[in-house]
Amino acid sequence: MRDIQHIEIPGHTLSVRVDPGPEREGRPALWPSVGEYPIYDPFLYTTMTTDDERNHRFRAALAHLAPDRRILDIGTGQDLLWAREGVQAGARHAVAIEVIEDAFHKAAANLPALESPDRITLLLGESTRLRFAPRADVCVAEIIGSLAGAEGAAAVLADARTRLLEPGGLVIPHRAVTLAAAVRLSDLLPEQPVAFAEAALPYLRSIFGWHGSPFDVRLRVENPPADALLSEGAPIEVLDFNGDLQTQQRTTTHLAITRSGLVDGVLTWLNLWCLPDEEPLDALSMKTNWATIYLPLFDSPVPVEPGDVLELTFAAALSDDRVHPDYQLQAVLRTADGQQRRGSLISPHHGGAFRSHSLYRDLFPAG
Ligand SMILES: C[S@@+](CC[C@H](N)C(=O)[O-])C[C@H]1O[C@@H](n2cnc3c(N)ncnc32)[C@H](O)[C@@H]1O
Repeated sequence: MRDIQHIEIPGHTLSVRVDPGPEREGRPALWPSVGEYPIYDPFLYTTMTTDDERNHRFRAALAHLAPDRRILDIGTGQDLLWAREGVQAGARHAVAIEVIEDAFHKAAANLPALESPDRITLLLGESTRLRFAPRADVCVAEIIGSLAGAEGAAAVLADARTRLLEPGGLVIPHRAVTLAAAVRLSDLLPEQPVAFAEAALPYLRSIFGWHGSPFDVRLRVENPPADALLSEGAPIEVLDFNGDLQTQQRTTTHLAITRSGLVDGVLTWLNLWCLPDEEPLDALSMKTNWATIYLPLFDSPVPVEPGDVLELTFAAALSDDRVHPDYQLQAVLRTADGQQRRGSLISPHHGGAFRSHSLYRDLFPAG
C-alpha cells in the first residue's frame, strides 16, 4: 500500500500520510476525532451499540431512573437505543430526538417493529431548536466525546435542563471528565509511522466535505500503549450534568513528570459516570468506543526528567455554532534546573488553520 494517498473534497485534492502497516485488533491507530461532526454512519453506530463497557452503565442508570417517568433521548441515533431501553425499563413515554436526517429515517423505519412503538415519539432536528409538551422527567443523552465536551454536551444539556425537562429533572450521564497526561506522539504509535489508518480516510473526507475545506482536525489515537504516559493524568475539563453545568471553562493544572523521555503534547481521555456512586468508565484503561485524543503543544519534542512539571491551561468556549466548544491550550514546561519552554494549541471545532503545526504539515504533505 502507498504511504501517501489522496482524498478529494470539492475544490481540494489533499495528500494524506497513511500507515501502510496491517490493521490488527489492538494495534495503535491514528484517526480524526469523528464524534463531534454530523457524519455518523452504520459503522460508527455499531461501535456504540456493541460497547458493553458503555452500555451496561447507561442501562443501569435507566433501570434506576426511568420506571414510571417520561424520558427524553437526545441523539437517539438510527437504533433509538436509549428510548427503547428506557421504555423497556418501565418509562411511561420517551421522546427521541435525532438531528442527522439519514439516521432519523432509519430510526423511523425501525420504530414500528419495537415492543411498544406507541410509547416513543421520534422527532427530527437539533434538540436546542425543538420543543414538545409535556416536559420530560429524565434526559438520557449519549453525546459525550472522547474529549468529554466536544460533542456539545454542555450547551445541549444546559438547554435541555432549562426548556425540555421538568424542574429538578435528572440527566444521564451524571458527570464527564477529560483527563490529560504528557506524552510524545511517536511513543503512542510505537514501531509504526505517524500516519492515519487507511480506514480513517473516508471520515477525513466527510469531515472536510461537511465543513467545505480542510482544517487541523483533532487526532484520535486508538489503543495507545499504557507505558507511553510521561506524567500522571489530571482533570482538565469537568461537566456536571446534574450540577453546576458550565458551557465555558478554564482550568490550570500541573502535570508532574514521572519518568525521563520526550514530550511534544498531551494525551486526553474520558472518565464517565452514568450514576453518581459508580466506578467511572475510563477510556484509557477500558475497552470502549471512546478513544484518546492527542493534542500537540510543542513543534519539536522537549526532553523531560522526573521532577519537571508541565503547567497546562485548558479553556473551552462555544464556537460560532453556539453548541460545540472550541478549545485552547497553553503549556509551560518547567524543568528542575529552572528552564522554561512554552507551547500552545488552538483547536477549534471546525475551521481555523490548516497545516499550522509541523505535525499537520507532515500528516497532510503539500502537493
Ligand atoms: C454518540 S451518538 C449516540 C447514538 C446513540 N444514542 C447511542 O448511544 O448509541 C450521538 C448522536 O446524537 C446526535 N445528536 C448530537 N447532538 C444532538 C442534538 N442536540 N439533537 C439531536 N441529535 C443530536 C448525533 O447526530 C448522533 O446520532
